[in-house]
Amino acid sequence: MSPSQNAPTSALAARLILGGHSFIAQLGNEPLADPDTQTALVQACLDQGLTTFDTTYQPERVALGKALAALGRRREARIIAWNFFVPFAPDTPAQALGGPAAYEPHHLDQMLAELQTDFIDHLVVHAVGHAAKDAGQLDLARSWQSAGRVGDLGTWHPEPDFSRQFAPPQTNPFAFMVRPCNVNTPNAPAAFAAAKQAGWHTFACSPFVRGWEMDKRLQLAQARQPAASSDALRARLADHMLRYSLFFPHVDRLIVAMRRPEWVAVNIQNAAAGPLDEAQTAWLLDLRV
Ligand SMILES: NC(=O)c1ccc[n+]([C@@H]2O[C@H](COP(=O)([O-])OP(=O)(O)OC[C@H]3O[C@@H](n4cnc5c(N)ncnc54)[C@H](OP(=O)(O)O)[C@@H]3O)[C@@H](O)[C@H]2O)c1
Repeated sequence: MSPSQNAPTSALAARLILGGHSFIAQLGNEPLADPDTQTALVQACLDQGLTTFDTTYQPERVALGKALAALGRRREARIIAWNFFVPFAPDTPAQALGGPAAYEPHHLDQMLAELQTDFIDHLVVHAVGHAAKDAGQLDLARSWQSAGRVGDLGTWHPEPDFSRQFAPPQTNPFAFMVRPCNVNTPNAPAAFAAAKQAGWHTFACSPFVRGWEMDKRLQLAQARQPAASSDALRARLADHMLRYSLFFPHVDRLIVAMRRPEWVAVNIQNAAAGPLDEAQTAWLLDLRV
C-alpha cells in the first residue's frame, strides 16, 4: 500500500512541516545537501503527504523555489516565509546569518521571485523590537494579505500573556504562531495554551534543536547503556524527541529540518506511532543534560 493510501499516516505527515534549515549548511549536523538532493528531499516530502515547507533565511527561499520549479509541483506545496533578507554563502559563519528586518514594500516581490511563485501561503511577521517599525511592517503585511498576495499572517515566539495586546478594540491580525517546543522548553505549555485560546494554529519547531540536542542526549544514553548500539539509540531518540514535540498539548503541527531524503519516511513513520507512553517519556526526560 502506498503512503497516500494510508489515511492515518498521511494525516500525520501533513502535521509535519519541512524546516528551512534543511537547505542551508550552518544550522544542523550534516553537510549542506547538494541541489539534486534538495530536490529529492522536496519530492520525498510531497510524495509522502508532507506538503508544507518553511523558509526562514533568504537562501532557503531560493533553494525551495528552485526545487519546486524543477519538480513542477508548486501547486501541491504550501510555503511559510519570514522577514529575513541577508543573502549568505554556505561558508558564512553561523553568527553572521543576520536576523529579522522589518518588511518594506519591495520585499514581497523579492520573496516571490526567490520562491518562484506568485503567492505566499503563510507569512511570519517576526518582530524587530521597535514599536513603530513593528506597527509599520504589520500594516504592510496586512495590505499584502488584502491584495491576495499572502495568506495567513503569523508571529514568532509570543509571550504567554500576548493576548492582552489584541484585546478589543484591537483586532488580532494573526492566524498562527511559531515557537520552539522540545525537551528544553519549560515555558512552552503556557505559550501553546494561550495561542490556542486566541484561536491560532500552533506550529512548534526544533524537536531536535538542530540535531545538537539529540547528539548530547545520545552521548548520555550511550554512557548509561554501553551494550546498546549507537544507531539504535539514535533512532530511539529521534523517535521519542519528535513525538514529544508533535504530540505536546496544543501543538497543531511540527517544523522539523532534514537534509537527508530518507529521514522523511522515518519521521512520518515515527509520528504515526502517536504520543509517547509514560515509560518512553520518562526515558527521554531522564536523559536531561
Ligand atoms: N529554533 C528556531 O530558532 C527556529 C526559528 C525559526 C524557524 N525555525 C524552523 O524550525 C526548523 C527546525 O528546527 P531546527 O533547525 O532546530 O532543527 P530540528 O528539526 O530540531 O533538527 C534538525 C536536525 O535533526 C536531524 N534529523 C532529522 N530527522 C532525523 C532522524 N529521523 N534521525 C536522525 N536525525 C534526524 C537532521 O539531521 P540531517 O542533517 O542528517 O538531516 C537535522 O540536523 C528550522 O529548520 C526552521 O525551519 C526554527
